[in-house]
Amino acid sequence: MHILKRVFVLTKPLLTKESTYFFLLLIFLSCNGPVPLQRGLVTDKAMVVSAHPLASAIGSEIMQKGGNAIDAAIAVEFALAVVYPRAGNIGGGGFMVLRMNDGSMDALDYRERAPARASADMYLDSLGQPVPGLSFKGHLAAGVPGTIAGMLAAHEKYGTLPFSQLIQPAINLAKGGFELTQKEAKKLNALQKDLSEFNTVAPESFMKMSWHKGDSIANPDLSETLKRIRDHGRDGFYSGRTAALIVEEMKRGNGIISYEDLKNYRPIWRRPLTGMYRGYKIISMPPPSSGGIALLQMLNMIEDYPLGEWHKYDSRTVHLIAEVERRAFSDRATHLGDPEYHPVPVKELLDPKYLEERMLSFSLDEAAVSTAITAGNFSLVESEETTHYSIIDPMGNAVSATTTLNGSYGSKVVVAGAGFLLNNEMDDFSMKPGVPNAYGLVGGTANAIAPGKRMLSSMTPTIVEKEGQVHMVVGSPGGSTIITSVLQNILNVIDHGYTMQASVSARRYHHQWLPDYLQMESNALPDSTMVLLEAKGHQIKKRSDYGRVEGILVLADGRLEGGADPRGDDAAAGF
Ligand code: DON
Repeated sequence: MHILKRVFVLTKPLLTKESTYFFLLLIFLSCNGPVPLQRGLVTDKAMVVSAHPLASAIGSEIMQKGGNAIDAAIAVEFALAVVYPRAGNIGGGGFMVLRMNDGSMDALDYRERAPARASADMYLDSLGQPVPGLSFKGHLAAGVPGTIAGMLAAHEKYGTLPFSQLIQPAINLAKGGFELTQKEAKKLNALQKDLSEFNTVAPESFMKMSWHKGDSIANPDLSETLKRIRDHGRDGFYSGRTAALIVEEMKRGNGIISYEDLKNYRPIWRRPLTGMYRGYKIISMPPPSSGGIALLQMLNMIEDYPLGEWHKYDSRTVHLIAEVERRAFSDRATHLGDPEYHPVPVKELLDPKYLEERMLSFSLDEAAVSTAITAGNFSLVESEETTHYSIIDPMGNAVSATTTLNGSYGSKVVVAGAGFLLNNEMDDFSMKPGVPNAYGLVGGTANAIAPGKRMLSSMTPTIVEKEGQVHMVVGSPGGSTIITSVLQNILNVIDHGYTMQASVSARRYHHQWLPDYLQMESNALPDSTMVLLEAKGHQIKKRSDYGRVEGILVLADGRLEGGADPRGDDAAAGF
């Protein structure tokens, strides 16, 4: 692939992972100590931050050629579908929040839908008990994909360059191949067993005894599928040969997606949710994502407290954040679902009076107790297999998009002859009241399965505005942790004065009401803070790193700083 020389690509933050953690550790030594000042890539006009250096470079190149942020987003989305197959996709779905330079904003919902033959009890056995794994692996786990319809809709409404130009870099990568990173090689090796188990035809492009860093991987079938989309648009995916390959795949694997389901899929333009936090305007995703509502609820509940005076690592800060997270996630479980099927009380949930009442039970000294509503045990899926990209173009338009197959490599099913993985998004529904999904999230009727319904999401693509201008673009993968990662990054920047890179690198913690404990990355907090949190009654559980936050911050002089998450191969690129 040709990368323009004037495009700067930063595949790693200026500091290495180890030195970043050491640097953060130094902060612990003084709780009111210095704010980390390391910056990510800084550019004058345009920036893309995504999970893969090739995808970021392609987005940047599109803007060099005069494309706007939406053109770049489409090119990045397709590139990720090739070079980041565990989450980038054409067999999944996502959400895009955008803000044009005239101040107008929009939100595109290209979330998957349940097939027409889906039913509320489709993952339960004859005794009404969940069948382990059925909603998570294999053909029945897949919802009707939305990504292609989404990209075409984004292009139709906002694109400026020809669609063929935006998809071509992905076609070239799929045909010619690209080099695997160490992390991707490791992930592919771990996938081999599932590929053998859940595919009806061995997906040769993905299968090998052992993948290594630097191996070239090509996918000729995917390249042909992308060409059909380039040449026939919607009909290149939702009908014709690609649709036939999907339906044949379903028949072989006892799946239920039909020609009708594919024909009927439509993305939806929605009005973004907005709210204010300390004078900043927050623009985020409405239902069927829970992200925007939960984020605005939590920011509102936090606003009365002087987070800026307290330090980021002060036990009061962490306690407050955990408690607002607890409250927002308990609302999520009861009230949120696809608005076309369930009346989501958006206004009520965001009413400042309601949120004030929610915080009446808050005590600075004591953790609340989440009511246990299920005895079921589950293990959290340790995967980061959604992906986010943030883009600002030279005209000042901004895109924040999160796209997913749900779990790592989705359902593990590759559509034979078409070269792409199908999602396992059906697991985001509540298969039975109180039964947790892969992320430990519980739900009830609001998010029950129904034909054609969109499953509730946590994806939180967000744009922050300051004094009428774009200030920050941010989002992350991580299932339920997405919402709290986005929250903590907004607080890092607004309340704690972090640079974008320091903010995405900072260690994170997460509470989601149930299970009732605080999940924490290693070295997230100084021991002294942990002791104080435990004294308040918080149960703390260490967990592996999570989230891949991709952020862009507009600096005071108008330049752009990219923050690419050091937890992955993430990269900023721009000019
Ligand atoms: O839409 C959702 O909330 C999930 N399907 C996102 C999955 C995800 O972030 C995977 N990463 N852990």
